[in-house]
Amino acid sequence: MAFTVATLLLLAALYSAHGSPVFSSEEEYEFKSWMAQYNRIYNLEEYYHRLQIFMENKKRIDHHNAGKHTFTMGLNQFSDMTFAEFKKSFLMTEPQNCSATKGSHVSTNGPYPDSVDWRQKGNYVTPVKYQGHCGSCWTFSTTGCLESVTAIATGKLMLLSEQQLVDCAEAFNNHGCQGGLPSQAFEYIKYNNGLATEDGYPYTGRDGACKFQPDLAAAFVKDVVNITMYDEMGMVDAVARLNPVSFAYQVTSDFMHYKDGVYSSTKCHNTTDDVNHAVLAVGYGEENGTPYWIVKNSWGTKWGKEGYFLIERGKNMCGLAACSSYPLSPM
Ligand SMILES: *[C@@H]1O[C@H](CO)[C@@H](O)[C@H](O)[C@H]1NC(C)=O
Ligand SMILES: *[C@@H]1O[C@H](CO)[C@@H](O)[C@H](O)[C@H]1NC(C)=O
Ligand SMILES: *[C@@H]1O[C@H](CO)[C@@H](O)[C@H](O)[C@H]1NC(C)=O
Repeated sequence: MAFTVATLLLLAALYSAHGSPVFSSEEEYEFKSWMAQYNRIYNLEEYYHRLQIFMENKKRIDHHNAGKHTFTMGLNQFSDMTFAEFKKSFLMTEPQNCSATKGSHVSTNGPYPDSVDWRQKGNYVTPVKYQGHCGSCWTFSTTGCLESVTAIATGKLMLLSEQQLVDCAEAFNNHGCQGGLPSQAFEYIKYNNGLATEDGYPYTGRDGACKFQPDLAAAFVKDVVNITMYDEMGMVDAVARLNPVSFAYQVTSDFMHYKDGVYSSTKCHNTTDDVNHAVLAVGYGEENGTPYWIVKNSWGTKWGKEGYFLIERGKNMCGLAACSSYPLSPM
């Protein structure tokens, strides 16, 4: 014990000697409460390192929330990580080949309802899932969309396998935990004649060898529909008339701590080359004159609005209209 205390004092002295801020007991208390809430355990050196990152994140969140914005930020399970660390663990790394210069989705002329929410239309959207430390967002966007499309066609909502896509969809330009695209994953499922259920091919969150067997196939894709690049009204048309739609966009550092409201950014880019995350649009609406998309994420239910977020609609915000797609069910 005495040794621990001595080490602590020594470390504290070292940190202050290096000019790093010394934290107040309130700050440490807040960090320790957060650690308890998110089950974090660190060794002493890691503790000071993470405390510093946590306080930087907290400062940024408080500063954002004190200003006038359409969305708020909050502490969450990522609050002891820098954005660089977050990016490495949770986002897609290389630029994706996302370019449907001419998609096959054919829009009607509307009119469209002011708001749509597939979560409220019936039993069409599965609970929010958690991708873990793997750039497999594209597999969750894919299963989320196919789960909904299949439920709308058959009346049966089932959980589908992300791991099969992580392990088996490489021939379609997908790269497991290093990224991929829903459109390419739908192509794989179509070609492969089916996707297993979550129980049939459970999630590990790590790259592995393909274990698919034909008798595992539970959901099917008759065809893949891409929405033409930057045609955000095409996305509205598809979500209003048909089903939720998979899309990709660029996550920048403030998004990591999104909490509530309509996300909007002047920092993110809006072209196909910059997308690094894929998700599922399950509806849209408007709040205080700001149109938004309702989006299902794959970072667990403790993130954002119980796992969901709203993002500004109508401006190709962060490239969200760069590559959107959905599958057709054979049923
Ligand atoms: C993009 O497509 C090219 C050519 O098909 C391929 O070599 C490359 O690996 C693809 N990139 C990604 C990130 O899938
Ligand atoms: C949809 O886009 C993907 C690339 O994201 C492409 O591989 C595929 O051929 C396209 N499908 C159709 C039907 O245009
Ligand atoms: C991207 O944003 C820029 C700057 O706001 C805008 O001029 C451009 O039209 C946007 N491009 C696309 C494809 O949305």
